[in-house]
Amino acid sequence: MVGLILALDVMDRNRAIWLAREVSEYVDYLKVNYPLVLSAGIEIIRELSEIKPVIADFKIADIPYTSSLIARKAFENSAFAVICHGMAGSDTLKAVLDVSDEFGGEVYVVTELSSESEFLRKFSDEIAMLARDIGCHGIIAPATRAERVAQLRKIVGSMKILSPGVGAQGGSVEETIKAGADYIIVGRSIYTSDEPKAVARDIYERIKGLEV
Ligand code: XMP
Repeated sequence: MVGLILALDVMDRNRAIWLAREVSEYVDYLKVNYPLVLSAGIEIIRELSEIKPVIADFKIADIPYTSSLIARKAFENSAFAVICHGMAGSDTLKAVLDVSDEFGGEVYVVTELSSESEFLRKFSDEIAMLARDIGCHGIIAPATRAERVAQLRKIVGSMKILSPGVGAQGGSVEETIKAGADYIIVGRSIYTSDEPKAVARDIYERIKGLEV
């Protein structure tokens, strides 16, 4: 199963809801990040969840206690999954996993960012091993470096790989899926387009064309 995730980094609630409805037949999940939640309030997760399951990309990276509070807030508002920074370490990941288990949710772990990420890149293989060994559900791997997606796939086996960085950041749909990603995450290429639905459909069809 390969698919598309819409990164909804718009600042306006109504625009976010409109976009989500517009592309819903082509996306598997909606991803929200701080720009939208800080603008529209945490309730936006609940509203969007009525359209598609929502991944709360809060890049949680605090001590275990605080991280668990953040994760709980996301899950209490109907998030399907949260994104956590693996660099925070095993105790933080375990604390977030414990909360996700209470809600039947999922935890995806940032290995290295799709941007320069020169510090995380030194440890991303170890972060992926940690995510795998403690039972997280997936990792985030950079579509801007398809060879790293392939390498991380060897480490995480059948765990989910979600890859941001396609389009605006220069990554390729085809190379990322062929390298082993399960989902690509796309934001600006879709939501800044005059025809978001047509762009989402095009990416969806290219992804599905590669499904084995
Ligand atoms: P664009 O507009 O670049 O949006 O298509 C990408 C979305 O994904 C987020 N992002 C990341 N999240 N690890 C993450 O957990 C990453 O390496 C990464 N790179 C981009 C970005 O914040 C936006 O929401």
